[in-house]
Amino acid sequence: MKLFIDTANIEEIKEASTWGYIKGVTTNPSLIAKEGSSQKEIIEQIVKLIDGPISAEVTAEDYPHMMEQAHELYQIDPKHIVIKLPMTKDGLRASAELKKENIPTNVTLCFSANQALLAFEAGARYVSPFLGRLDDISDDSIKLIEEIVQIKRNYGYTTEIICASIRNPDHVKKCALAGGDIATVPYKVLSSLLSHPLTDRGLDSFRIDAEKTAKLTEK
Ligand code: G3P
Repeated sequence: MKLFIDTANIEEIKEASTWGYIKGVTTNPSLIAKEGSSQKEIIEQIVKLIDGPISAEVTAEDYPHMMEQAHELYQIDPKHIVIKLPMTKDGLRASAELKKENIPTNVTLCFSANQALLAFEAGARYVSPFLGRLDDISDDSIKLIEEIVQIKRNYGYTTEIICASIRNPDHVKKCALAGGDIATVPYKVLSSLLSHPLTDRGLDSFRIDAEKTAKLTEK
């Protein structure tokens, strides 16, 4: 399962770009709003940091304006930009139209298997089911990922499933077990994927033993 970082914070993306395993970035209007710059300024910086798909979301809600924004965003960097569209009638229409122009889309705010099916049929390159927000209303987010994966396999759809609204390391593990293609993960959760107290303890003892060996060979 590929890992994307879910943030619009440039410092976080700069740091994550050095790790060697972050393959893309997703942003949304709420993440952009936290940063105090325009979406264009932020996206222009992000595309220089990560050589992978960068999702930039349209804010318009009607089809003509969505298409206008999509073309503007895509022009920032046609090699990397993916147009993020809402799971609405206009969003799906825009996805189908942009597919004809070979512009990749990510249909977001997906909360049901049927919604994912519509995104598959509308030619989306990616669909983003949200886990945390489903769990918040006591629904079963992992079951949703399993259902979407099953539908994808039944018909051989090529749309990639981006597991989004990830809140903890357990979400990441369960999405990987369920067969999600990608998890887009906040910086804090990504950092915690690496940590294990036994790794730290093992490193300490290896260091101590290596120092002993070094002293012996000095003699
Ligand atoms: O990728 C979507 C994600 O940013 C939403 O996360 O935590 O606001 O539900 P959250």
